[in-house]
Amino acid sequence: MTAPTLRYLSRSDIAALGGDHSDLYMEAIEHGLRLHAAGEFVQPLKPYLRNPRGRHIADRIIAMPAWIGGEAPISGLKWIGSKHDNPSARGMERASAVMVLNDAETNFPVAIMEAGLISAMRTAAVTGIAVRHLAKAGFTDASIVGCGPIGERQARMLAEQFPGLESLRLFDLRREAAEDLSVRLRDRFPRLRIAIAETAEAAVRDASVVITCTVTDTPYLPFSWLSRGTFLANVSIMDVEREVFLKSDKVVVDDWDQSNREKKIINLLVESGQFSRETLHAELGEIVVGRKPGRETDDEVILLNPMGMAIDDVACAAAILRRAEAKGAGTVLPLY
Ligand SMILES: NC(=O)c1ccc[n+]([C@@H]2O[C@H](COP(=O)([O-])OP(=O)(O)OC[C@H]3O[C@@H](n4cnc5c(N)ncnc54)[C@H](O)[C@@H]3O)[C@@H](O)[C@H]2O)c1
Repeated sequence: MTAPTLRYLSRSDIAALGGDHSDLYMEAIEHGLRLHAAGEFVQPLKPYLRNPRGRHIADRIIAMPAWIGGEAPISGLKWIGSKHDNPSARGMERASAVMVLNDAETNFPVAIMEAGLISAMRTAAVTGIAVRHLAKAGFTDASIVGCGPIGERQARMLAEQFPGLESLRLFDLRREAAEDLSVRLRDRFPRLRIAIAETAEAAVRDASVVITCTVTDTPYLPFSWLSRGTFLANVSIMDVEREVFLKSDKVVVDDWDQSNREKKIINLLVESGQFSRETLHAELGEIVVGRKPGRETDDEVILLNPMGMAIDDVACAAAILRRAEAKGAGTVLPLY
């Protein structure tokens, strides 16, 4: 009998393997989206664990299991906690997570890794792949609404992946969060012109690419704020008013089944008969493999509603594990 082991990777182990740069995640997410389009995945609907004392929309722990196929099949689970007041009351990140990867032959756990970084980076990479296909060619400006860790990683991804990006507008209800982020971004990307918007509307109006990264539970972003040609990534899911889903030229999701549930806006629109799988333009993977078109004219307003998929996390964690194994990185622990 071989004695089973598992590899533990902390956030700094992952960063040292290249996990602090968007390149690794763009590649892994593209691979994951291709498998999604090919149906080479299993992804049960994710359960939300909410305890009855936490009433905020962002107080929860979510279990996200998935299997991905292809040439190197692997299974995994992201177990991601969130407490809305971690930043303000405890000086801690809102989200915290671990990822377990399981060997697809034996189903034995082979790795446990910190997954707050992976989760933020893979979320940015999903937007990045979408921007490639759905933003106006040659766009030079973008806006981020909500400047926590998710907003920061989205901004860094844009700067890293789109060298034509010249200017970035930031808005946060806490002006300080936007100012702090602008300082870090100026240090890292001196080429960028960064402005702090006074309102969400000022951030969104005339922007070519808009990314929402707040923790709101109340939609505030109407269609009238969007210009022709805008690509809007609704990363925080609850920001965009219902009419935006109905008036945008194309609505794209990552996974229809995951989007049409939990009383999220698409789900409410489906229940009231205003939206359906037929009204949806595409799942993102269908665009990546060329089965459905991406942007077709400079005029289109395109909305991405990325619920976040477990296969995103598994694809990225698997890429990190392969690098860790090749370099002998992390801590190998006995399982028994
Ligand atoms: N779709 C996905 O795949 C995915 C993945 C990860 C996280 N998320 C979402 O991203 C969001 C942000 O995560 P985070 O970890 O950065 O959260 P966070 O709480 O650390 O930061 C959120 C920031 O948004 C600001 N904010 C809150 N409401 C706002 C509003 N109405 N307008 C402007 N700013 C506002 C807050 O002041 C804060 O700075 C969460 O809603 C989370 O669920 C989505």
